Amino acid sequence: MNFRIPLSSPDITQAEIDAVTAVLRTTQLSLGPELTAFETALARYHQVPHAVAVSSGTAGLHLALLTLGIGPGHEVIVPSFAFIAVANAVLQVGATPIFADIDPLTFNLDPKRVEEAISPRTSALLVVHTFGIPAAMDALRDLAARHNLVLIEDACEAIGATFKERLVGTFGDLSVFGFYPNKQLTTGEGGAVLAHSAEHAARLRSLRNQGRSGTDWLDHAELGFNYRLSELACALGRVQLGRLAELLAQRTAAARNYLRLLGDIPGLKLPPTSLPDREISWFVFVVQLPDGSDRQRLQAELHARGIATGRYFAPIHLQPAWKNSLRRHAPLPVTEAVAQRVLAIPLFNRITKQQQEEVANTLAELVIP
Ligand SMILES: Cc1ncc(COP(=O)(O)O)c(C=O)c1O
Repeated sequence: MNFRIPLSSPDITQAEIDAVTAVLRTTQLSLGPELTAFETALARYHQVPHAVAVSSGTAGLHLALLTLGIGPGHEVIVPSFAFIAVANAVLQVGATPIFADIDPLTFNLDPKRVEEAISPRTSALLVVHTFGIPAAMDALRDLAARHNLVLIEDACEAIGATFKERLVGTFGDLSVFGFYPNKQLTTGEGGAVLAHSAEHAARLRSLRNQGRSGTDWLDHAELGFNYRLSELACALGRVQLGRLAELLAQRTAAARNYLRLLGDIPGLKLPPTSLPDREISWFVFVVQLPDGSDRQRLQAELHARGIATGRYFAPIHLQPAWKNSLRRHAPLPVTEAVAQRVLAIPLFNRITKQQQEEVANTLAELVIP
């Protein structure tokens, strides 16, 4: 459906168009200088030694788990209030996802619930920085260290966010980013994995390129995948990364404007703004509707008026796709309660003040306290 005010929209300037066009004028459309330049810039931005670009965030999660040796017999603690790829990737390496509940304030894994979910089979903790809000990295890191767990960060929604002034994606053994067009930074489709060791980076590069490790195109040292990111995508990403401060500042300004415009709607819960130690990278703007709201009807009304919305997120453990894959998990009351009330409203770099006012006025008219 085409909305007058979309939920998200990429911010592409002439610089991105020029960079992608320049690649098209070369003969190297994959595995060339743009890949190296994008990876180098990503690693430098995060001040980590290695960044490995891949074809999607999902591919990044898959390779991160494989690289860290997670597989059959291993349990991985994940949130259910997340995009489905988070848990799918765990299943797809043959490991068992164990869902843990979230903190209602940050939408992120609650360290207390994570601790309760740890068993002798737990091997990894997969922490998502939901909606660009940093998770409680000190408590979660401490848990991982005390229980000897591998720590993977899913920063797909959170590039540029900080916890205690440190960028998310720099805490984990490996960290994953996604660059789908609704993200703060896009490559069309794409993703990346940050690594601290040369061994991990080499394994990631081999796995993304059909298990190749030598120079001969037809030598395959291990079973791998085609998770490469094209030169066109990397050129786009390189320019977007150079503009990241500007991209994030625009989203922050739009989010602040919404906070001002929506502050007076009775019963409407706004995203957290003054969380200690955290700087949010605004991925989506998610409100929580008052008790008794009919979200489906509200969405239909908004959509009829050309305003897009999204149900960010529907719990993974309740998805039909997961009916036959569920293993033990504790009750997830916060996940289930929050998921019924959330509504993402349009947020993108070039959203105008008038568009935001229209969204806010329409919500004020339709939301029933
Ligand atoms: C938290 C999270 N993890 C993983 C992904 C998967 O990324 P992709 O859509 O690039 O495969 C997303 C996606 O959009 C996401 O929000």
